Amino acid sequence: MATEKTFYLETFGCQMNAHDSEKVIGTLQQQGYRQVEAEADASLILYNTCSIRDKAEQKVFNRLNDYKKLYKQGKRFGVLGCVAQQEGEKIFERAPYVSLVSGSASYRKLPEMLSRLEAGESRITGLDDRQTDQTFETEFTSRQNPYRGYITIIEGCDKFCSYCVVPYTRGKERSRSSSSVLGEARRIADLGYTEIQLLGQNVNSYRDPEGKLSFAELLAAVGQVAGIRRVRFTTSHPRHFTRDIVEAIDAYPTLCDHVHLPVQSGSARILKAMAREYTPDWYLERIGWIKASRRQISLSTDIIVGFPGETADDFIQTMDLLAEVEYDCVFGFKYSARPNTPALVMIDSIPEAEKAHRLQVLLDRQREIQRVNYAKHLREVLEVMVEGVNPARGQVTGRSSQNKPVNFTTSQVIAPAPGTYLQVRITATHPNSLVGEAV
Ligand code: SAH
Ligand code: SF4
Ligand code: F3S
Repeated sequence: MATEKTFYLETFGCQMNAHDSEKVIGTLQQQGYRQVEAEADASLILYNTCSIRDKAEQKVFNRLNDYKKLYKQGKRFGVLGCVAQQEGEKIFERAPYVSLVSGSASYRKLPEMLSRLEAGESRITGLDDRQTDQTFETEFTSRQNPYRGYITIIEGCDKFCSYCVVPYTRGKERSRSSSSVLGEARRIADLGYTEIQLLGQNVNSYRDPEGKLSFAELLAAVGQVAGIRRVRFTTSHPRHFTRDIVEAIDAYPTLCDHVHLPVQSGSARILKAMAREYTPDWYLERIGWIKASRRQISLSTDIIVGFPGETADDFIQTMDLLAEVEYDCVFGFKYSARPNTPALVMIDSIPEAEKAHRLQVLLDRQREIQRVNYAKHLREVLEVMVEGVNPARGQVTGRSSQNKPVNFTTSQVIAPAPGTYLQVRITATHPNSLVGEAV
């Protein structure tokens, strides 16, 4: 390897992966590595991968293939994250120039794995899978997001939804102690962050190993950390969505008025085949609690269309649920068969074109729902946290507490910094964003 220890890291996938990368970067820096912006400048090239949908593995191999010539220049490659855990040592067979393969459940061993790499070892693996009860906690997190401090409170997943790779890629559910979480929240506040996002594949399955706080109590406690103005949390699972979460949002204005509650389907039959462990009625009861809140809590969801055996009637039930809940944001996906998952044996019966058609119908309908929902904000004054500035257009972008994107202008000569809060009067609305001017 080159004498100066440098690394390039690229991240794919969800916020958990994005935050894992912040921790991996901090760990590497602690080990004497310097981060660089291009593969060509790095002695170690790392991809933190995602395998949730489509042919994700193939994309990683294609990417590695593009850069494999750099191996001869002494550069080393590592594959991290969900594809690493899923494919394991098979990666060495398909891409022999890869030296390190590690899933997220093994990151706590990164310093040791890096030492072995530096000593010239190859085929180094961290594939702890579902054996470990340990979480990855480090004081060296290198926070890359200028306005949002992430905290993972629970890792892994025990739900085994029949379509999903996550239980196989991220290990079993394990929570961090509430005192450790609160300690990190205070450190984040000391760094100057005012927004915290609590993360977990099922964030509300949180179980304090110290037995002190429930999830709702932890939310309230984080919301009361001095200096913190916004607390978000994702992703909630309907199965564990309890009423006290809504009560906490009601009681603490620092908890953002937004809940992301993936439903996946509006058909009881399909939900059963997905092993989601709730019915549409169970789900809608929880939506009822959220809508009964004193605050206007914004709702968003994930939906899969074209799950094996989904009939036209099942799909209509999903459309009915969409109309009933009136979400502010929907992430819609075509079902994609994934390795190791139970749904793999079900016949992926819906042709790709039909899946695409259903997704389009769903998203078109949702766009109309959002057009109406967003229009309700016209002339309101919303508190917006600045996320970025587009100097070319003189526009500032940010989000409301409800997580709605707001693009606005300001008469200030100096552009507001990310993380600043401004009151913005809404002057126009679109189905996916609000437009306004700072007051
Ligand atoms: N833990 C969260 C979501 C994790 S993955 C939850 O249970 O809600 C994010 C989203 O990807 C899921 O909500 C689901 O809608 C989608 N997804 C997961 N596996 C998929 C697959 N095999 N095909 C299509 N979409 C999938
Ligand atoms: Fe996947 Fe289901 Fe776990 Fe979510 S709850 S990560 S969809 S298995
Ligand atoms: Fe992808 Fe793994 Fe997240 S599969 S969505 S990176 S948990």
